Amino acid sequence: MKNFKAGLFGLGVVGSGVYKALLQNEKYGISIEKIAVKNIDKQRDLELPNGILTTEEDELLENTDLDFIIELINDPEEAFSIVKKAFENGKSVVSANKKMIALYHKEILELREKFDVKFFYEGAVCGSVPILRLLDQHYKSDQLKSIKAIANGTCNFILSKMVSENQDYNSALKDAQELGFAELDPYSDVSGEDTRFKLSIMIYHAFGVFVHPNKIPLQGINFLDEHIKDFAQKHHLKIKLIGEVQEVEGEITAKVEPQLVNDKDDFYTIENEFNGILVDAEFTGEQFVKGKGAGSFPTALAVLSNLIDLKYDLAIAKVSDKEVKTYAKKSEARIYFIAGLHDEYIFNDLEVLNKERNYVIAKSEFHQLEKLKKDNPNLYWVQLSGNFLKETIKQDALV
Ligand SMILES: NC(=O)c1ccc[n+]([C@@H]2O[C@H](COP(=O)([O-])OP(=O)(O)OC[C@H]3O[C@@H](n4cnc5c(N)ncnc54)[C@H](OP(=O)(O)O)[C@@H]3O)[C@@H](O)[C@H]2O)c1
Repeated sequence: MKNFKAGLFGLGVVGSGVYKALLQNEKYGISIEKIAVKNIDKQRDLELPNGILTTEEDELLENTDLDFIIELINDPEEAFSIVKKAFENGKSVVSANKKMIALYHKEILELREKFDVKFFYEGAVCGSVPILRLLDQHYKSDQLKSIKAIANGTCNFILSKMVSENQDYNSALKDAQELGFAELDPYSDVSGEDTRFKLSIMIYHAFGVFVHPNKIPLQGINFLDEHIKDFAQKHHLKIKLIGEVQEVEGEITAKVEPQLVNDKDDFYTIENEFNGILVDAEFTGEQFVKGKGAGSFPTALAVLSNLIDLKYDLAIAKVSDKEVKTYAKKSEARIYFIAGLHDEYIFNDLEVLNKERNYVIAKSEFHQLEKLKKDNPNLYWVQLSGNFLKETIKQDALV
């Protein structure tokens, strides 16, 4: 089979992983001929052939020798412009840029059709875990009911350290930054925004509907304090940031929020930088996949799997073959641990089950809590898992 030539945008964490993996494995039959970077003079711990680096994107995009483009830069707007130009030049693209894909998903897939090229992005969602492939191929013949996912390793690392090692939020975040699991500006991870990008992409692959990330209700982990940590430790629970989507009576609903899980929950054993995804479907039932959600080689390998798809021209099942659902921004009432309120705050609108000095356990809908947060910026909530509630009802110990 012909050897394929690729142009690579970005030589950071993931880009350098892809470059090294291709160099070490001739069996792939894919070589990187040109690499576009932002700063050509940067020191890099890689031996590179002379002249391979450039800052001129057209040296890749207009190079007729290159069979395809690998897009691994960090800026979503610049990445979108690169992808568009690649398509216009008839080049297929592999990307891992979840933010760009979530923000421009529909537009990119329309352009892909218009220019009759391919666009794969397995690495964008949960790193090494082949969740998009599963949704596209395996679940094509089943009726999906719901997906729940720990999709952000940074948050999971912080939450693991808080509960298992009794750290407070700030010191757990500092550890995550020192070990390279969190960016210096951790906002996108800890606010839940990154999970929301990934959830929005999964929703399309699961249910065939484009949901802009901003339409998905969101509560991150950046307000969690010692009250929730104490509650979790007392009840032998773990806190997990979970993005979930489900179909309720023909409508799709989704949200991202922290949840308390007990040892009966699949998410309980997903620690540190790992990701875990629970898919529930009519015939398959529940299936759980776990793996490394980020990092140089785990993500690079997801990118490589897509390069192999391109190489063999594998026709990924098109989501548009599935019945398209509608999206409704609503959610069912759940039982929540709610804290971070002004002391004297009155919970008029909530169905309070238990009230302690620093928190309440109450039944509420996500939107009700969002409204309360407008007047109480430090308010946070953590959903109590069904398995935990079953146990506590048995023991009558919800405080
Ligand atoms: N890191 C992960 O574990 C992970 C996991 C899944 C998905 N992703 C996604 O993969 C993408 C890359 O992430 P990363 O962690 O590898 O980022 P990174 O380490 O920050 O590297 C970004 C690279 O892009 C280059 N770059 C920036 N703007 C450019 C432009 N306009 N043209 C050409 N090159 C440009 C930078 O050049 P210089 O080297 O010259 O600065 C750098 O090499 C992001 O979309 C990210 O969300 C990352």
